[in-house]
Amino acid sequence: MKRVILITGTPCVGKTTTAKALAAKLNAEYINLTEFAKTNNLTLGDDEARCTVIVDEEKMQQQLGENIEASQNPNIIIDGHFASAVTPTQHVAHVFVLRRHPKELKAFMEKAGYSGSKMWENLQAEIIDVCLGEAVEVHAGRVCEMDVTGKAVEDVVREILDVLEKRKTCFVGWVDWMGTLEQEGILGEYLKPN
Ligand SMILES: Nc1ncnc2c1ncn2[C@@H]1O[C@H](COP(=O)(O)OP(=O)(O)OP(=O)(O)O)[C@@H](O)[C@H]1O
Ligand SMILES: [Mg+2]
Repeated sequence: MKRVILITGTPCVGKTTTAKALAAKLNAEYINLTEFAKTNNLTLGDDEARCTVIVDEEKMQQQLGENIEASQNPNIIIDGHFASAVTPTQHVAHVFVLRRHPKELKAFMEKAGYSGSKMWENLQAEIIDVCLGEAVEVHAGRVCEMDVTGKAVEDVVREILDVLEKRKTCFVGWVDWMGTLEQEGILGEYLKPN
């Protein structure tokens, strides 16, 4: 029985760092979808803020499905902001949507070289729960929302393992950046047109 785990979320939220650390813990196969799309010549363009990619989605689903079925490893971790959209639902056991306070996320994005409208568009996508919405729409009942703000990678991995090993249940819909930012008096700063 194969277990496919998706790690998704807004660009820069920490997917790759988390997914690789989790894969090491579980001895799982690790698939980075950006690389997968490139290797398999499936990328036509990218729409990061909307948690989708402009690819031949059908071809990508099919190719991913084939790779999952062919894998010798019972645990497969799929990392990508568009993971929800392109992984065949019948294979998916868990979807972890990483969430990060927009203030911290902005600092991570700036460090990664994002700026201007591209950065603001991605921050706004985090605020309005785009990746979460996509995950829930496609994989309802298997989605776990995780606030990783201020947490060390090891702690995030431990939380994921707690869910996988049923020590913890997980929830969806509890992160509310809109409300948080409003309370902090900085919502306008984040939602202004850029
Ligand atoms: N828990 C963490 N604590 C501190 N820094 C982190 C943590 N997780 C990730 N980072 C840092 O944040 C940055 C973005 O992380 P990462 O590349 O894993 O994000 P990503 O979601 O995979 O981004 P992309 O969408 O561009 O692939 C990196 O510099 C990484 O070292
Ligand atoms: Mg990444």
